[in-house]
Amino acid sequence: MKFFVDTAEIDQIKELNDLGMVDGVTTNPSLIAKSGRDILEVTKEICDMVSGPVSAEVVALDAETMLAEGRKLAKIADNIAVKVPLTWAGLQTCKALSDEGTMVNVTLCFSANQALLAAKAGATFISPFIGRLDDINIDGLELIEDIRTIYDNYGFDTNILAASIRSANHMSECAKIGADVCTAPPAVIKGMANHVLTDKGLAGFMADVEKAGIKIL
Ligand code: E4P
Repeated sequence: MKFFVDTAEIDQIKELNDLGMVDGVTTNPSLIAKSGRDILEVTKEICDMVSGPVSAEVVALDAETMLAEGRKLAKIADNIAVKVPLTWAGLQTCKALSDEGTMVNVTLCFSANQALLAAKAGATFISPFIGRLDDINIDGLELIEDIRTIYDNYGFDTNILAASIRSANHMSECAKIGADVCTAPPAVIKGMANHVLTDKGLAGFMADVEKAGIKIL
């Protein structure tokens, strides 16, 4: 499973990228706003740092303007994936950009039917939002399972990009289901390293290091 990092914070992307943990980056208007940076400028900087796909989201609601925005975003770098919302206009834009050879990430997906439409429209990525479904008491992971089954049934090559990831548990569950990619905030990716028994075991080892005066350097 590929790891995309869900942020527009350059320092955080760099730290994970240097460790080989970043196969791509996703941003959205809220993350760009949080960074306080200009969308074109910060997206270019991310694309220069990371070799995998970098999602940059359109902000228009109608297909014509979305397409113009998508074409402008696609010019930033070869690794741009234009992100469009899962609306009818977004699907129209997805089809047009995909036909032009641009990667498209269809976002704000909350149902298997929406994922089916995105695949038919030629999406490179479909982004089902797990956390936001969990927030309204609908099992987000079940949606990932359903989309996996549907795409495999018909051989769609659209990549399932599990998004709105809130916990390390979401990451391993998505990997078990067979999501192609998970995009998660840096804190969630770093949190995957934590285990209470690792902390406890290390504390025990350190106590013995202290007691025996073990030194290596
Ligand atoms: C990424 O593509 C999505 O925009 C992001 O994962 C949404 O996450 P949130 O639901 O935590 O805002």
